[in-house]
Amino acid sequence: MRLFDSHCHISDGRYADRIEELAEEIRAAGVERLVDIGTDLESSESCVRMAKRFDFCYAAVGFFPSETTGLTEEDLERLRQLSREPRVVAIGEIGLDYHYDDTDKPSQQHWFRRQIELAIEEDKTIIVHSRDADDDTLRILRESGAFSKERTGRFPPKPDGRPDARVLLHCYSGSAELARTYEKLGASISLAGPVTFKNARRSVEVARTADIRDLLVETDAPYLTPVPFRGQLNKPPYVRYTAEKIAEIRGNSLEYIAEQTYLNACRVFGLEPDGKTAPGGAQEGSASCASGAPELGSPITDER
Ligand code: NI
Repeated sequence: MRLFDSHCHISDGRYADRIEELAEEIRAAGVERLVDIGTDLESSESCVRMAKRFDFCYAAVGFFPSETTGLTEEDLERLRQLSREPRVVAIGEIGLDYHYDDTDKPSQQHWFRRQIELAIEEDKTIIVHSRDADDDTLRILRESGAFSKERTGRFPPKPDGRPDARVLLHCYSGSAELARTYEKLGASISLAGPVTFKNARRSVEVARTADIRDLLVETDAPYLTPVPFRGQLNKPPYVRYTAEKIAEIRGNSLEYIAEQTYLNACRVFGLEPDGKTAPGGAQEGSASCASGAPELGSPITDER
């Protein structure tokens, strides 16, 4: 069994003094791939270094919504250069977070747009963070061309022929109805630890009703530790518990959900599922965009 943690922050300082140990745990747990996610320039640079260091690691670079105040076009240009580094598969996490009262909405919206435009220009996957901002997130993604025919035309379609916009809603917390809207537009949905929580209602409904070809799993480590480890520091090996919960909800085996979400993540990030990945190796992410392997992410036949 192999797992793909589509979103975590292993460059976070909390792992710094035990990163080699963590890498061993990740390998031992069958987490064959993960994406280390940036939130500002400094952490994005760390992610790029991490991806060069560990063969299971890929990088995403971006400015988190609350990190956008005071940004300049030069900062965006620096992000563009980073996005061209080896093993950088996505721009993220980017989006809108209206949770706190002092939210700088104009700044968040402006830099969300600019980073979507950058991702489109650079043919990169877009990893979206959206909190208490459902309507504006969808509107800005649409207006900025994230689901345009021009963009989806650049990528191989999903296995059943639907367009793939390579837009990933990370730690999705919206309604099942909104998830369907996103799926129709060509986005994919990533579920995290909250689906295992006792009070999870909406994400359980999403886990039950989403197309299996559109679902990914993630930890968002060091945050959002799943049951049964709540209260402890989260880590990529725990992605198994989110996959297990989805399997339980859908009546599938863990093996099926693990493999399917692995293949979906490979498709969303433009990676060959069985490609050999050497640290600091070829730019697999961008190179395979054009390969169009039709079997990428095909649902495996044994549903159980
Ligand atoms: Ni995150």
